[in-house]
Amino acid sequence: MRIIKAKDYVDMSRKAANVISAQVILKSNAVLGLATGSTVLGTYDQLVEWYQKGDIDFSCVRTVNLDEYIGLSEQAEQSYRHYMEVNFFHKINITSTNTHLPNGMATNLDEECKRYDRLIESLGGIDLQLLGLGHNGHIGFNEPNEAFEKLTHCVELKESTIQANTRFFEDETSVPRRALTMGIKSIMQAKRILLCVSGVQKASVLQQVLTGPVTPAVPGSILQMHPNLTVVADEEALSWYQG
Ligand code: GLP
Repeated sequence: MRIIKAKDYVDMSRKAANVISAQVILKSNAVLGLATGSTVLGTYDQLVEWYQKGDIDFSCVRTVNLDEYIGLSEQAEQSYRHYMEVNFFHKINITSTNTHLPNGMATNLDEECKRYDRLIESLGGIDLQLLGLGHNGHIGFNEPNEAFEKLTHCVELKESTIQANTRFFEDETSVPRRALTMGIKSIMQAKRILLCVSGVQKASVLQQVLTGPVTPAVPGSILQMHPNLTVVADEEALSWYQG
């Protein structure tokens, strides 16, 4: 595991964008696993800036996102498809048919989960998976549980996650209670993982994830087992780390 301590959020975003940019330069048709949430917004902004300067070309890049709410259409402002379009895809030269998210409106959700796993496989797996970290240690929407769920699956969101994500909705009652998420195996099979964490409120959970026991009660702790994990976090989130 490589831990990179960034000065602040802007510095974290720039460093994370550098890792992604290097991946795309090394392999122009790389498969990027992408994440949503506030933490990675600055990373997307930085990549867009470099694209506008002509420094990165996304024309052959393929993307698979971690998760999507169940019951929100692609057009719904709070859907992760909408987040990705507005914050990233519309601003770069990616081919829209090369961008993939689970379909939270699918009538057969079990079939949709299987389709998504087959899709990742057909793309040759994920070269670089970008991850944020939930306040309860979740990655994607893999919530604390008694066992690690391996493949893409349907998940009931925890109350703490619903609370944390209410800020994107009108009120708590409008937050979907269920989501589709890549499983732990799908994430862990990525050739490389980039975990981004920012802020003092994530310091303790980040410490548990990186130094605590590997347990499904803290889903992100499985990342300790990944052979090629890079953590880019700011000083606030890494206040406990002496390296
Ligand atoms: C959501 C997403 C996760 C993300 C997490 C953290 O729950 N499903 O993929 O990592 O939020 O979000 P934030 O970066 O806003 O704290």
